[in-house]
Amino acid sequence: MQKLTLLFVTVLLVSTSIALAVPAGKTLEFSKSPMGVVTFDGTLHREAGQKCKSCHNKETFPKMKQGTVEITMNDIYAGKFCGVCHNGERAFDAQSNCTRCHMKQ
Ligand code: HEC
Ligand code: HEC
Ligand code: HEC
Repeated sequence: MQKLTLLFVTVLLVSTSIALAVPAGKTLEFSKSPMGVVTFDGTLHREAGQKCKSCHNKETFPKMKQGTVEITMNDIYAGKFCGVCHNGERAFDAQSNCTRCHMKQ
């Protein structure tokens, strides 16, 4: 019985995370910077081979909810948040590509 309950909970969790998956077409906007709005595209990142856990882990973006971390450029340059990858190794370097993220509207 306990095993069945566990199985049920697991299936429920897995299907919920699929339903929440930064889904095709889902984007987040970060609009606090004077440099212009940053649009984060879930589909693009998935297609670039990133798994949920590449970002949603203790060190990077622990919560699947927007606005739970304060993202600053100093943190990005220091290899935190977007800077875990946008360092010229796993993805384009933030320091020399401001306008690939920040769009003036
Ligand atoms: C390349 C990085 C990255 C990947 C990969 C990623 N996410 Fe996210 N996700 C983020 C960021 C950044 C946020 C905003 C976090 C914050 O502001 O604290 C976010 C927020 C979310 C949110 C909240 C959206 C909202 O409107 O508040 C959900 C749900 C979510 N992610 C689910 C997922 C799932 C499921 C996967 C895997 C299919 C996934 N994410 C993969 C970076 C990523
Ligand atoms: C786990 C790794 C990872 C994290 C974390 C991550 N990205 Fe990316 N991102 C990538 C990869 C890989 C690409 C595609 C390769 C490339 O463009 O260099 C990409 C591409 C992009 C692009 C496309 C740019 C273009 O001109 O095509 C934007 C914009 C972007 N990321 C913004 C963000 C923002 C904003 C964050 C933080 C909220 C973030 N990324 C966090 C890995 C990541
Ligand atoms: C990988 C994507 C990315 C790149 C590249 C990038 N930024 Fe940002 N930047 C962000 C995100 C995300 C935020 C948080 C915005 C928010 O919270 O609304 C931010 C915030 C900022 C802020 C406000 C917070 C702070 O740290 O002062 C400034 C100013 C800024 N960026 C300037 C720049 C400049 C200048 C460059 C190029 C040298 C640059 N950014 C490159 C993603 C990026």
